[in-house]
Amino acid sequence: MSAIDDIVLSPDERLKTECAPIKTIDADVRKLAKRMLKDMYAADGCGLAAPQVGELVQLVVIDVDYAGEGSKKNPYVLINPKVVTADGPERSYSEGCLSFPGITVDVTRPSHVVVQAQNLDGDLMQYEARDNLLAVCLQHEIDHLHGVTMVDHLTPGKRIAALREYDEALAAGARPGDTSAE
Ligand code: NI
Repeated sequence: MSAIDDIVLSPDERLKTECAPIKTIDADVRKLAKRMLKDMYAADGCGLAAPQVGELVQLVVIDVDYAGEGSKKNPYVLINPKVVTADGPERSYSEGCLSFPGITVDVTRPSHVVVQAQNLDGDLMQYEARDNLLAVCLQHEIDHLHGVTMVDHLTPGKRIAALREYDEALAAGARPGDTSAE
């Protein structure tokens, strides 16, 4: 199975499920983080949440610096992440999701976030981002842990249009990491 085939595609109940906090950071958790990073890089994504590989636990991986094969990696592993602040002017950003190959949608979110999460060593880390891809990515990925996907942020009309476009993209053979609808 290729890394891309490991990714759960919408519609799937696992993408709508509240994920359980991780109690112990053991070998299984480290293995899951490794698997998710592999999948994320294989699909050229900037983030991936555990339910997107079918594991209903609160784990997210992010790399907003990786620019494709051969470039430097800067992976973040966030365990039990919590948004402690989400404020600042709202910004609209064109988002894609590895579970919705072939489409991007404009999602409006707060432009400034502070997130707390444990790392793989169990240390509590704090991440702050403002007006950048990281601010968007943190919110998008943490949403996944609570059964929320990017299309849930759209108005009903826009959601219907986005899901229709998604069906067409899938029918045309879109794969995780494809964000153009052509
Ligand atoms: Ni996503």
